Amino acid sequence: MGEDKAIYTVRNLQQGYNGRIVLNVASLDILAGEILAIIGPSGAGKSTLLRLLAFLERPLSGQLTFYNQPVSDQWPDLAAKRRVTMVFQRPQLLRRSVHENVAYGLALRGQQASHEVNTILTALGLDHLTHVPAHTLSGGEAQRVALARALVLKPDVLLLDEPTANLDPYNVNQIEQFIQQVNQTQRTTVVIVTHTIFQARRLAHRTGLLLNGRLVELSPTNIFFERPLQPETAAFIRGDIVY
Ligand SMILES: Nc1ncnc2c1ncn2[C@@H]1O[C@H](COP(=O)(O)OP(=O)(O)O)[C@@H](O)[C@H]1O
Ligand SMILES: [Mg+2]
Repeated sequence: MGEDKAIYTVRNLQQGYNGRIVLNVASLDILAGEILAIIGPSGAGKSTLLRLLAFLERPLSGQLTFYNQPVSDQWPDLAAKRRVTMVFQRPQLLRRSVHENVAYGLALRGQQASHEVNTILTALGLDHLTHVPAHTLSGGEAQRVALARALVLKPDVLLLDEPTANLDPYNVNQIEQFIQQVNQTQRTTVVIVTHTIFQARRLAHRTGLLLNGRLVELSPTNIFFERPLQPETAAFIRGDIVY
């Protein structure tokens, strides 16, 4: 990934609520085309970091850039914001058909793309559920619809917040394979937050450990797991940090 440029840069970025700092990341570059996994225990600040990357919140202090421009009230503008989509841990689907759920974001952008919707539903093994009401789906099916809904928009960046938590191995596998395929074929930059180290190991080019709001270590995934630099990383991989 050496020649890749940063889509985001994070410098001394702090976020907090009710006077308590919950995120304090000194430095992080997210590279175009990479799959970056952020792991860490519950409460470490993983979702907070993703919300900042999705421009859903403004930080207390520090700098975040997106495509080399500081994030502010003016940037990113609507068109640039649309280069980023996020999938949450619990998908919120409309009480409409699967097809309508996936087409909805395109419609908001003034696009009719029934063909693209069908293609992505097929790729995610959902073609037989196209006309089914989304609220009748299983958890794994619903999460695949949420992923389809995000990716039919062809974002530059896909932010995933524990997308396979509580899912069965079949759905985990389908979702992981699709994420990898999209990354490889469309060079979509993926930031995946997960509390399972195995998922990071399977998917990510680089893995970072967030503990108490701090990015303790960020390395190529094989180094992260095989030769971690920080004792906290070694402890987390061993399972010594209870979460
Ligand atoms: N909107 C909020 N208001 C108050 N506290 C929050 C809010 N969002 C997150 N927190 C707190 O910030 C800390 C980090 O939360 P979060 O980013 O959700 O961690 P993680 O995703 O790693 O489990 C937690 O202590 C959480 O309770
Ligand atoms: Mg979270």
